[in-house]
Amino acid sequence: MLEKQVVIITGASAGMGYEATKLFSSKDWLVFAGARTVAKIPAADNIVPLELDVTDSVSIQGFIQAVLAQTDRIDVLINNAGYGENGPIEEISMGNIRKQFETNFFGAVELTQLVLPIMRAAKNGRIINVASVGSNTFLPLAGYYTATKAALQIWSDTLDLEGAAFGIRSLIIQPGSTVSNWREISRGNARSNLNSNSVYQELTAKTDKALNNRPQTATSQDLARLFYKAATDAKPKLRYFNNFADHSMVFVARTFPTLWRSIVQRILRKTL
Ligand SMILES: NC(=O)c1ccc[n+]([C@@H]2O[C@H](COP(=O)([O-])OP(=O)(O)OC[C@H]3O[C@@H](n4cnc5c(N)ncnc54)[C@H](OP(=O)(O)O)[C@@H]3O)[C@@H](O)[C@H]2O)c1
Repeated sequence: MLEKQVVIITGASAGMGYEATKLFSSKDWLVFAGARTVAKIPAADNIVPLELDVTDSVSIQGFIQAVLAQTDRIDVLINNAGYGENGPIEEISMGNIRKQFETNFFGAVELTQLVLPIMRAAKNGRIINVASVGSNTFLPLAGYYTATKAALQIWSDTLDLEGAAFGIRSLIIQPGSTVSNWREISRGNARSNLNSNSVYQELTAKTDKALNNRPQTATSQDLARLFYKAATDAKPKLRYFNNFADHSMVFVARTFPTLWRSIVQRILRKTL
């Protein structure tokens, strides 16, 4: 009997991570699924739900120890846990900015450092990092969120070069607006990060309205399928997009930042 392939998925209690856990399990992988809310991780014989807070080194180390107590192979790590600490650049507290980087960037960094020696010894492994179209675009109130995703992206590309000699690939998924808990959590943060009598109230209200008007073009199941494709493609790509619109948006913002800026300002001007 063939040994099962092993995947670690962070942020497995909701949204894309939840759906990816179910999908990899249905494809007969052994899934080590981490989140703070363990009770919400899907259940199946080949899913091992584990408590994980990616902002906490002790939790990260305990999580990997628990994985290695049950298997000596790790084929894929999916760094998916993340959230949007939205709000104006001037007013978000340093504590919340650090929490944003701890969750979306340093958590992935620390998990990856612990997993790399196992992948290197096996001369095989794939690290899949869930960034965002926001890694290349810019919008008001999303400054720190997109900074974490841009950091994740350039870090992943560097790791991909460093890991090549050891059979390790590091890839980026760039989701666009996707149905999950993400939007409501980031909208709530944008409100709670605003000072009372803030000069950014109007910008916050307009941005919130503009973003909320934006159609969500993907489901978390769509993104789970993209994670699976990135994990199993014979010739993996550096970037994975769910649809052409997401890819085009990134192309425009990266290639013509001044045009992107005027598009955003135009949308905000038209939002009453
Ligand atoms: N939805 C979108 O429109 C969108 C667009 C672009 C990129 N993304 C990115 O896609 C990824 C998945 O987001 P989603 O849309 O599926 O959002 P979601 O439904 O809010 O799920 C986020 C997951 O991350 C986990 N998480 C949050 N903080 C954590 C922590 N400190 N330690 C461990 N787990 C933590 C949550 O679990 P617990 O709270 O139980 O820990 C949850 O399982 C994120 O990296 C997000 O930034 C989302």
